[in-house]
Amino acid sequence: MRGRTNMLLGFVLLCSASLLYLGMNTIDCPRKSHRYHWMKLNMASGNQSLPHFPEDTPLIFIGGFPRSGTTLMRVMLDAHSAVRCGEETRVIPRLLAMRATWSRSDRERIRLDEAGVTDQVLDAAVRAFLLEVIVGHGEPAPRLCNKDPFALKSLSYLARIFPKAKFVLMLRDGRATVHSMISRKVTISGFDLSSYKDCLTKWSGAVEAMFNQCKAVGEARCLPVRYEQLVLHPEQEMRNLLHFLELEWDASVLHHEELIGKAGGVSLSKVERSTDQVVKPVNTEALSKWVGNIPSNVIDDMAEIAPMLARLGYNPHANPPDYTKVDPITSSFNHLQVRDGTRRTAQKTAERETPEKRPLAGRHRAEIH
Ligand code: A3P
Repeated sequence: MRGRTNMLLGFVLLCSASLLYLGMNTIDCPRKSHRYHWMKLNMASGNQSLPHFPEDTPLIFIGGFPRSGTTLMRVMLDAHSAVRCGEETRVIPRLLAMRATWSRSDRERIRLDEAGVTDQVLDAAVRAFLLEVIVGHGEPAPRLCNKDPFALKSLSYLARIFPKAKFVLMLRDGRATVHSMISRKVTISGFDLSSYKDCLTKWSGAVEAMFNQCKAVGEARCLPVRYEQLVLHPEQEMRNLLHFLELEWDASVLHHEELIGKAGGVSLSKVERSTDQVVKPVNTEALSKWVGNIPSNVIDDMAEIAPMLARLGYNPHANPPDYTKVDPITSSFNHLQVRDGTRRTAQKTAERETPEKRPLAGRHRAEIH
């Protein structure tokens, strides 16, 4: 009798232990997210219920005009053992463009303030949205990065809401960029793909807006990188970039193609335009493909059509310029440069001048499809 009772007790105990084990497993489901792992890695806590990420997360934002080598730059950085950029999120530039419209009209501003929806409230919401998307859409890593080319139209704003973020602005000869857009039929709303002149004019305006903001936040936070220099001198450019980002040198960045599809390496989207090109090692094939494809009347007026060419150091009259000779990026806006603590004013000026806030004449709704 006693033996039977003990057996029954043992059976009950075994069942309870199994149930407890199963219950704990259920609590752990669903599979832990990228967000959970990132929090564990960076905050010594895997608490998924934390309301938001800290605003001083040292994010890296890569951007520039589409077809300027932005994907190449992000896959090279993705190859770094401490960095994860990942695919374009597409929603980030859209939210930023929307945010820029919310405070544009004074009337709307008053209405929002009356409702308690202050700039502070909106900025906190935008910050939380961006961080959730950036953290959640890819693998965790000590340094997270985002590459959505037109997000840098809001560079000054991003610099304000993420005080520790750094920016990499990809620049490329606009003739090559526009030829790439037109020949590959990369549509950007507001751009007339049947006209080199229209596209070059708008390329110049869009790049100017991003470049001005880059200069305004200062060289400690924004680094312009020329595509031509990146493909001609990858090691030199990447060493300079990693130093700017305060990251250790990692030679893997020079062989991103070897890490495609590997854990902690480079993840590619099947549907992004540049995927078939970035699977290759860094090469110089695309440097002068534009030569001979731009109508002669546009070539003749290039300096006037695209004034940013000269400002970025590309000779507008050379077809093609000698890309091995580095002309300095000229700055015709010295008043925006940091001198005697004027950075704040300069930054505010540039922020006021983002394309979304400029008068219609100098503005276009540029969104890539
Ligand atoms: P082309 O279309 O002129 O060939 P983005 O990613 O910003 O849209 O830029 C696309 C450009 O980056 C393409 O220009 C492409 O050639 C270039 N690119 C992509 N991968 C490259 C690589 N491995 N080496 C050199 N250039 C590359």
